[in-house]
Amino acid sequence: MSASEPMLRVTGLDAYYDESHVLQGVDLEVGRGELVALLGRNGAGKSTTLKAIMGIVPPRNGTIAVAGTDVCGQAPYRVARHGIGYVPEDRGMFASLTVEEHLAIVPRARHGEGDWTVDAIWQRFPRLRERRANRGNQLSGGEQQMLAIARALVRNPRLLVLDEPTEGLAPVVVREIAEVLADLKSHGLTVLLVEQNYPFATRLADRVYVLGKGRIRWHGTPAELERTPEVKHTWLGV
Ligand SMILES: Nc1ncnc2c1ncn2[C@@H]1O[C@H](COP(=O)(O)OP(=O)(O)O)[C@@H](O)[C@H]1O
Ligand SMILES: [Mg+2]
Repeated sequence: MSASEPMLRVTGLDAYYDESHVLQGVDLEVGRGELVALLGRNGAGKSTTLKAIMGIVPPRNGTIAVAGTDVCGQAPYRVARHGIGYVPEDRGMFASLTVEEHLAIVPRARHGEGDWTVDAIWQRFPRLRERRANRGNQLSGGEQQMLAIARALVRNPRLLVLDEPTEGLAPVVVREIAEVLADLKSHGLTVLLVEQNYPFATRLADRVYVLGKGRIRWHGTPAELERTPEVKHTWLGV
């Protein structure tokens, strides 16, 4: 690992579901301490990009490096050990486990950074502390999302990867999640955020990649994207 390497570098990534060529040469980079948003319409390939990075969908071609170390083709548990906290789209809750149990069963990342203990989680997420004895199926959507983020944090990741954390949540909860992410970023955590919520993502992001039909169609800053209406219109529908 070299300090000059970006936290994540993906080049020429191809992924398939059977014969369907879903990712077609995706290139993206997340620098240390950056919050990068990957935006795109439904079906563009955003979740598949994250699953390919995490080793859940095997890439057919390309490279994936975490802090300069190649992880392409590794099993998901091995990729995660490189210090990636992944918050999947379905939040990955266990209906029968309590909030506290969800946090207790998480293995630490071998290449982790930060000092997220369960006590630190209770401090940052007081609502989860109140609900610590409740089971996954007794939590609201917002509480489940907070728990999913908290569970990724107790690994002490150096890179947090989130798949549409605001999906289906009320505006007040979306604001709370924005505060959490802004706070994590201000403490130096590197974040790759997949979103369909354009205002939420562009307010938080340092840089944006736009994915359309399995290819990166554009990248730049949120301010540049705001000045590029044809990209917003064609690839984001906003
Ligand atoms: N498990 C799967 N099997 C077959 N096709 C899939 C599967 N998951 C996603 N797809 C297809 O791959 C494409 C990209 O999906 P996805 O990565 O989920 O997009 P996004 O997250 O941007 O909405 C879509 O056409 C979707 O229908
Ligand atoms: Mg998706």
